[in-house]
Parts: sequence; C-alpha cells; structure tokens
Amino acid sequence: MPDATDGRRLVAGEVFVSFAGVGVTYGSGAGRVPALEGISLDFAAGDFVCVVGPSGCGKTTLMQSLAGFLKPSSGTVSIDGRPVDGPGADRGVVFQQPALFPWLTVGGNAGFGPMLRGESRAARAETVEQHLRTVGLWEFRDRYPYELSGGMQQRLAIVRALVNKPKILLMDEPFGALDALTREKMQEELHTVWRRTGMTVLLITHSVEEAVYLGTDVVVMSARPGRIVERIAAPFARREGERSSRETKSLPAFVALRERVLSLIWQSAET
Ligand SMILES: Nc1ncnc2c1ncn2[C@@H]1O[C@H](COP(=O)(O)OP(=O)(O)OP(=O)(O)O)[C@@H](O)[C@H]1O
Ligand SMILES: [Mg+2]
Repeated sequence: MPDATDGRRLVAGEVFVSFAGVGVTYGSGAGRVPALEGISLDFAAGDFVCVVGPSGCGKTTLMQSLAGFLKPSSGTVSIDGRPVDGPGADRGVVFQQPALFPWLTVGGNAGFGPMLRGESRAARAETVEQHLRTVGLWEFRDRYPYELSGGMQQRLAIVRALVNKPKILLMDEPFGALDALTREKMQEELHTVWRRTGMTVLLITHSVEEAVYLGTDVVVMSARPGRIVERIAAPFARREGERSSRETKSLPAFVALRERVLSLIWQSAET
C-alpha cells in the first residue's frame, strides 16, 4: 500500500506527469494565501485522474500549475521528465468558466486551434463538424457564444480543447453548468474520447459520483492549504461496455467507493 498522504506510487519509467513537492502561495505579507502545500503526485500516460476536495482547497491552482499558467512557489511540475515552464500545445485546457472568443461563431471557435495549426479548410471543416455533432451543437454552428446557454458554451469549450488532440486534457469542473441528462451524456462522450485516444486526463469535479465513475484514480484534497489526503484507484473507468452508466453507478462496489471518497472529503473539511 502506498503512503496514504503520498500520491507517488508509480515506478520511474511509467511516470508521465509529476508534481514533486509542489507548493503555491498567492500574495505576500499580511495578504499571503497558502493555496497548495507539499503536493507530490505522479501519473502515467493514459491515466484519468479526478481531483475532488472542498471549495477553495486549491484544485484550480493545481491544474494551473500543470497548464503552465502559474509557477509554483516551491517544487516542480514536469511532463515526460521536462519541467513545465509555460503553456503548451500538448495540453488542452477547459476552464471553470468557458473562455470563448465572443467575436467568432460556434464554428469559428471550434475551428480556431486547427486554423492556427494550418490545417486545410476541408480537414478543419470535417473535424469541426464531427465534434460539434457529438456535443449537439452542429445546428448552432453559425450562432455566437452570447446566443448559447451556459451549458452549451461549456460544451463548445470542450470541443475547442479536443480538436487540438492534446496529449493531456485538463478540465476544471467542466460539467457543472449542465443539466443532469446532458451531464451524463457528456461524461459518456468524454469517456469514449479518452478510451479511443489514450489521452491523459486531469479532471476537477465537485461530483464524487462523476470522479468515481470516470477516473482511473481519484485524488482527494484537504481544505486549504490543499494537500493530498489520499489517492484511490477506481476500477470502473476501464470496464468498457459491460453495463450502462446507471447500472454501474448503482453497483454496491461503486456506492461503497463513492461513500468512502465522500467521507474522506468530510473528514478533511473538518480538520
Ligand atoms: N489569483 C489569486 N490571488 C490570490 N488568491 C488566490 C488566487 N487564486 C486563488 N486564490 C486563493 O487560493 C485558494 C485556492 O483557490 P483555488 O481557486 O485553487 O481553489 P479551488 O479548489 O479551485 O476552489 P473551487 O472548488 O471553489 O473552484 C483560495 O483560497 C483562493 O482564494
Ligand atoms: Mg476551482
């Protein structure tokens, strides 16, 4: 068994993403906010890591340090042995609030990354159509972001990250604004994309059920300053097509794991 407070349990050759002793402190003097402390967490290529923890515990901060948007105050974040020193095309990011270009249509937003990469117009049109159809936005391709609901905007933000075929997909509570039905549908779509591409995913979610269902690993964080309380291997993500999502989510083993993660969050919020 790995040490409960240690997210590093892989042998060296398997490590793809590594947080080594990462701490992040915002501000200085009296306004100092220690957001993360002593985060050590390794994961392999193809892992689907779900991060859960109380609000304000530093989940977004953790993701931003891997995205390259902020430099940790201590420790190192590395990908494939190379320290992260800024954003890169190998990482696709979906923010907590959808970040879209308001002056571009839905189709324009979806095709923006492939256009930057110089993909031909025909190839781009095909990729965009396929992805917009998958998330149910094809009929809205000529609309502008302000004409979409919050959930539709978030679906478009997910498409925008996926069309770039990133090696690592970073998602910050991407389904929070979706209704229950669409949320389940999007979980399935994300799962399919993950299985087909072998992409590595870091998903932050407030839904413990979602984390246990989608993740190969569930990382539970403590209240601020965020530390890793426990990293739990979850078996359900790699079981393909055996049963429907509702069936899986009502399995006794699933319910037991969900309850275990929930009680860890409650305990960590109280301490
Ligand atoms: N740019 C910033 N400047 C100062 N403090 C910040 C900044 N960003 C975040 N913080 C603080 O750091 C802590 C962690 O914030 P973070 O956004 O990472 O939490 P979170 O776990 O993502 O929360 P939530 O679940 O509500 O999204 C919070 O106390 C927050 O107030
Ligand atoms: Mg957050």
